[in-house]
Amino acid sequence: MDKFVIRGGNPLLGTIRVSGAKNAALPAMAAALLTEEPVILENIPQVRDIETTRKLLTAMGAEVELGYGRAQHRTTICCRNLNAPEASYELVKTMRASTLVLGPLVARCGRARVSLPGGCAIGTRPIDLHIKGLERLGAKINQEHGYVEAVAERLKGAEITFDKITVTGTEDLLMAATLAEGETVMQNCAREPEVADLADLLNKMGAKIEGAGTTTIRVRGVAKLHGAKHRIIPDRIEAATFIIAGALTDGDLNITGCDPAHLGSLLQKLQEAGVKTRHTPDSVRVEGNANLKAADVVTEEYPGFPTDLQAQYMAVATQAEGTSIITENIFENRFMHAQEMLRMGANIKIEGRRAIVRGKTPLSGAAVLASDLRASASLVLAALVADGETIIDRVYHIDRGYENIEEKLRGVGAQIRRIGEILPKRRGSGAA
Ligand code: UD1
Repeated sequence: MDKFVIRGGNPLLGTIRVSGAKNAALPAMAAALLTEEPVILENIPQVRDIETTRKLLTAMGAEVELGYGRAQHRTTICCRNLNAPEASYELVKTMRASTLVLGPLVARCGRARVSLPGGCAIGTRPIDLHIKGLERLGAKINQEHGYVEAVAERLKGAEITFDKITVTGTEDLLMAATLAEGETVMQNCAREPEVADLADLLNKMGAKIEGAGTTTIRVRGVAKLHGAKHRIIPDRIEAATFIIAGALTDGDLNITGCDPAHLGSLLQKLQEAGVKTRHTPDSVRVEGNANLKAADVVTEEYPGFPTDLQAQYMAVATQAEGTSIITENIFENRFMHAQEMLRMGANIKIEGRRAIVRGKTPLSGAAVLASDLRASASLVLAALVADGETIIDRVYHIDRGYENIEEKLRGVGAQIRRIGEILPKRRGSGAA
């Protein structure tokens, strides 16, 4: 298992380029299942979840070319010959987003068999809303032996109101509805930029979708979709993680290739904490502040403060003067990083969904354990401001969603290196 060894204390200075959004690329790859023609996706991040999705699609008979180069990260997916519309437990347990194939498969093939994801490091995370929505679209559902099976000769447009806002649930049903007969109106949809990006791709493939990025999405079903070429949006969580790194280390960073319009809630929170940022249409410049102020954070669906940044913001709160209350509203068990930050000297008390962080506390390097993708990122951030050396174990979590994070950070002055151990490879928990 690889580990990161980080020596803290350097202000980060320079430029970091953001990769394509993992959470937009995953549904986009699943969308290729909806057509017999090739779908070309650019700005694909070089992360492990993409590799898992490639395996998932290949196992069904899809042809997936995936290439990473200096100028272009691109995949071409052709799903002409699908032999087995199935997602096995082996793959779904390593990446929950595998369930995104459920909607497209039943829409295109008339049936799908997808493993239920099971437990997750950050909460229970059921997929009941995906299943209920497919039933509304006319699919017959059977759950047995840990798998969900959906069958429908042709899905039929329907009104679907989500009981709760779900990102991949919205995406799954959006894809299913594109090939349904008649109109589908979905209410209480997720408004995340990744949903809008998926709808852009689907419309390029011939779908008739309106309202993606708002709470109500209308889809007029079509009989067939065709191939398309699409560029994935920048990763807002990766961009935000680097912005926080600049803020925390009292550095001066220019984060390029990002979309500041997707970062509003974080930039506003950092301003409250005393951090100065400036932006152009595709970059954010952040100047750190050695005198950060406490600010409360409440995670919400987009455009609220993302749960995927809660852990990283906790690192900021440990270095801010005063008490910050961080409330996690989306997942029930997403404070695992707090226990590790405590070991580094932070003052954090967990009360149910709230973390009370008292700052400013000096952090000292320690051996810590990464529990999930975003928790790993938060420990990297804490380590960058800690005194001495931090060793972060289980960084396979971070490899699921951050492209070359150590190289990107080293490029702006961080002392971070990866060390490997010759042990059998372990799998990720599937969190976020
Ligand atoms: C997506 C993101 C993840 C992010 C999360 C919330 C991807 C690949 N992953 O995950 O990074 O942390 O959104 O912004 O895009 N829920 C149900 N039933 C369902 C579906 C969801 O109860 O059928 C609940 C979940 O347990 C959770 C909440 O709804 O409490 C939101 O989850 P959801 O938006 O679905 O998260 P994901 O789409 O899995």
